[in-house]
Amino acid sequence: MPLRSTPDKSALRVTGLCKNFGEVGVLHDLSLTIGAGKRVALMGRSGSGKSTLLNCICGIEQFHAGSIEICGELVNTMNSKRIEQFRRERLGYVFQSFHLLPTLTALENVEFPAQLIHSSRDDIRNRARELLRLVGMEHRETHRPDALSGGELQRIALARAVINHPRLILADEPTGSLDSTSGDQVLDLLERISDEKQIAVLLVTHDRNTARICEHVLKMKDGYIIGDNK
Ligand SMILES: Nc1ncnc2c1ncn2[C@@H]1O[C@H](COP(=O)(O)OP(=O)(O)O)[C@@H](O)[C@H]1O
Ligand SMILES: [Mg+2]
Repeated sequence: MPLRSTPDKSALRVTGLCKNFGEVGVLHDLSLTIGAGKRVALMGRSGSGKSTLLNCICGIEQFHAGSIEICGELVNTMNSKRIEQFRRERLGYVFQSFHLLPTLTALENVEFPAQLIHSSRDDIRNRARELLRLVGMEHRETHRPDALSGGELQRIALARAVINHPRLILADEPTGSLDSTSGDQVLDLLERISDEKQIAVLLVTHDRNTARICEHVLKMKDGYIIGDNK
């Protein structure tokens, strides 16, 4: 059954989130909201809990208290099958290390998430080609990842992230492995895609310059959000 569309709701609402690993508290009473189509940067030192927060949001990690709502739907109460479907249909991911499948071409990598939700092959191919054009990679359609640069790989990963029309992109250090020119290109594309398609973004980064595309910057320290400085 397709998930209902809720364009008027916040893309993400985290309330009172607590997460422990064993005896150790890693996230403490975290709350944050991202409006539909808005971008929020999350900055903080290594070990402050940023990736754990992203993993809780996408349902990979369980949490002990609080709630997470994505597009108005409460993730807490979903079973694992539903979370998986929800993740495919509502969330897009961009990682520092790209995570493209090495045996697939650029075009096939972009198509892959769409094949998991049973669209027609022609429709998937057309959408994947359109997205490769959008990220300026149509001339690399048949290349495999080992024949592409980091910047090119991340542009393809960005196309892949949006093929299922997500409402929220989770980006963990998306420019962390790129030189500044390629990083800027990826950021400009992320900003443009988020604006044009009204996709919210939660962007984890160490870098102030990367955070510039975001309306809000949250700082995290030792599992607490300690400031909102925009
Ligand atoms: N699977 C795990 N088991 C135990 N501790 C973990 C695990 N994952 C992360 N941690 C701990 O949680 C804290 C936050 O880690 P993480 O979310 O990866 O931080 P960041 O992404 O900000 O660098 C760190 O102290 C880390 O050692
Ligand atoms: Mg991390």
